[in-house]
Amino acid sequence: MKNQILSQKKEYLDQLIELLKIPSISADPKYDQAIKKTAHWVEKALINIGCDNVKIYQTAGHPVVYGEKIINKNAPTVLVYGHYDVQPPDPLELWKSPPFEPVIKETSIHPNGAIFARGACDDKGQMFMHIKAVELLIKNNTLDCNVKFIIEGEEEVGSDNLEQFITDHKNKLKSDIIIISDTGIHSMDKPAITTGLRGLSYMEVTVTGPNRDLHSGLYGGTVANPINTLCEMIASLHDQNKKVNIPGFYEKVIEISKSQRQKMNTNNTPEEEFQKSIAISASVGEKEYTTLERKSIRPTLDVNGIWGGYIGEGAKTVIPSKAHAKISMRLVPNQSWEEISELFEKHFKDITPKGVSVQVTTHHGGDAYLTPDGHKAYKAAEMAYHEVFGVVPHAKRDGGSIPIVPMFEKILGCKTILMGFGLDSDAIHSPNEHYGIDNFLRGIETISLFYGHFYKLENT
Ligand code: BES
Ligand code: MN
Ligand code: MN
Repeated sequence: MKNQILSQKKEYLDQLIELLKIPSISADPKYDQAIKKTAHWVEKALINIGCDNVKIYQTAGHPVVYGEKIINKNAPTVLVYGHYDVQPPDPLELWKSPPFEPVIKETSIHPNGAIFARGACDDKGQMFMHIKAVELLIKNNTLDCNVKFIIEGEEEVGSDNLEQFITDHKNKLKSDIIIISDTGIHSMDKPAITTGLRGLSYMEVTVTGPNRDLHSGLYGGTVANPINTLCEMIASLHDQNKKVNIPGFYEKVIEISKSQRQKMNTNNTPEEEFQKSIAISASVGEKEYTTLERKSIRPTLDVNGIWGGYIGEGAKTVIPSKAHAKISMRLVPNQSWEEISELFEKHFKDITPKGVSVQVTTHHGGDAYLTPDGHKAYKAAEMAYHEVFGVVPHAKRDGGSIPIVPMFEKILGCKTILMGFGLDSDAIHSPNEHYGIDNFLRGIETISLFYGHFYKLENT
């Protein structure tokens, strides 16, 4: 299998480059045509590898691509989920090569080359590994599980319409396990299987003061400045120990035992290495938790954007009428994103000071997820990683979110195993996103081995 993959490396990469050239930015309606084109590209790819019933399904948002290979009604069925949409590439000036003109370059972490483009790792490159793995198995006549693909175009904007799609196609999607490659490993020497995702609650707030922008000389010192006020309000959302100051925020959080935390921390990246990797002089977060814990098992709150007033060239003396911020909270198992959004809204309104009014809206969200303990599919994935990477992968909880995963469980009653191959340094959502060629090739190999192991474990 490995040799077969290596011998087709160029062809695989050429195909992936073609996919990466299409700017399928789901957040920006200007790219709707590119989204459509990408859905068609995926449709064609599924047809080309020999899938049946391949179809593009329209939704209230961006289309979903479905395809399947049913080899035997009694064989176990694997549902593959991925997303073909990508994050906006800005700030463009920080890209060393344009985001939709993929190039392969060597880096210190990827000595055999990495492909640089928006979506290279998140998630076109990782999604495409599944198409290639299944292609190989079909070609070799060694596919022994049924496979269903569901590739969507709205993950990066919250998968708002996918819930309806899976509700409408519950029977068609029925499977024994869902596998997703949209997370990461620790390093090439230290592979990991992701066993948890955080939830997300994304809010927007507006603070309104006077009914128009005011001359800051004529009015300065007499009114509550909405930007000053918003900053004070935001600052009050954390206490001195960097705990989130919203009443009830931690109420549903399940504390993890000391021994489990100790075990988890054996995989903590050394502090200096972490700080060096993002050029900071100190890490900051909730007191009494390690960096690894802060970014995986603890809920957090961050401002993602803040604006208002004059931000053009030079200076303008003005007290703005309004100030805005986008604020997201990462959540952990047992916290409900709807409940947390309500708690946030109530609290933010409660702390409104005199002289301004506050508006709060919820954008989107999703709950956290824990993969099942001791599932056969986890064991199958573990065996596959072990074979390809030469070491047993450890289990790790990730800080990112994939909102549809808990929905899959709720609607389809089906569990998910997260078989990611990215690295934290791959710069997903940032300028110069890339994906290692070796990660890509090993991913294809690991995924193709997974099917054989899963089949055997399901039949013993
Ligand atoms: N693939 C990521 C999530 C991810 C990355 C999980 C790495 C674990 C490790 C996904 O595409 C993503 O970016 N999700 C968003 C949520 C969405 C609602 C915008 C996120 O986590 O911010
Ligand atoms: Mn993703
Ligand atoms: Mn993403």
